Amino acid sequence: METAGRKRLGLLGWPVAHSLSPAMHNAALAALGLPWTYELLPTPPADLAAAVRRLRTEGFIGANVTVPHKQAVLALVDDLTPAARAMGAVNTLFWATPALQGENKAIGTDDGPMVEYGEMRVSRLLGDNTDGSGFIADLLAHGVQVIGQQVLVIGGGGAARAVVFALVAAGAAVTIVNRTLAHAETIAAIVTYHYPAASVSCARFPEALAPAAAGAGLIVNTTSVGMWPDEDAMPWDQALALRPDQIVYDLVYRPRLTTFLRHAQVGGARVIDGLGMLVQQGAAALTRWTGRPAPVAVMRAAAEAALAQH
Ligand code: ATR
Repeated sequence: METAGRKRLGLLGWPVAHSLSPAMHNAALAALGLPWTYELLPTPPADLAAAVRRLRTEGFIGANVTVPHKQAVLALVDDLTPAARAMGAVNTLFWATPALQGENKAIGTDDGPMVEYGEMRVSRLLGDNTDGSGFIADLLAHGVQVIGQQVLVIGGGGAARAVVFALVAAGAAVTIVNRTLAHAETIAAIVTYHYPAASVSCARFPEALAPAAAGAGLIVNTTSVGMWPDEDAMPWDQALALRPDQIVYDLVYRPRLTTFLRHAQVGGARVIDGLGMLVQQGAAALTRWTGRPAPVAVMRAAAEAALAQH
């Protein structure tokens, strides 16, 4: 494999037309002076294996993976980072031998071994997950302390899994409140397997919102409820007020200020929208591909501009 010939990056998902990632990453690549391009790779589920094969042969530096492929791609890579293995989901693909030779040591990868792939000997294609670390990075960027924090996480899907893992790893105690209790319990069981001393409990949505919110300093919505075009909905009880000592984080960023965040503001809570997590997971992915610190401010400005155009 000739890494020097690689110039492409992209996003595997279905659908991906509204993604902010191309704007964000192309702005970052320009700022870093790298002659690479990040493109949308719309991929129906039946085509995922072929699409990953093309990544291996058509000059890709790496890729992002989004809905609905984050779990299916686990079986299509050569190895996983500890984060991806623990979460059981991948959002970033990168080569064990990156294009910028000599800079890989800093990010904890290695040069080999090469693997046979068809007629070729290629570097290993690795799967990482930067969703959880991106979430924590955005909390820290907002000055939110995580260690010792009591957190209410609403939802029990893939986003909740990444968020709960990252929160527990960073020393928070978590209550997962989800419509289907079994989905929350599955996350709790997997997280507790990896972090036996973790404090993770589960309760049912929406009944448990009030008791779980009472002791929570941080409340995180990981569901898509309130996302465009269904902007009036919120994953919360209208009668339940938020307090000035609480921080409410909504992973939704389309719209920036969801109905849930506006409701939280009425009660005096501090609110944080989901654009920062999008930027930070992208920044962590970019560092996997380049071995360099990501230009986070450039990426945030590009994502905001692209969002404003929609
Ligand atoms: P993702 O993988 O992106 O997190 P997902 O798998 O669709 O998305 O998960 C969305 C989560 O939001 C799920 O936990 C879902 O609850 P269930 O586990 O009961 O399916 C939750 N969710 C979706 N719509 C909801 C709604 N209207 N009210 C409450 N919870 C909802």
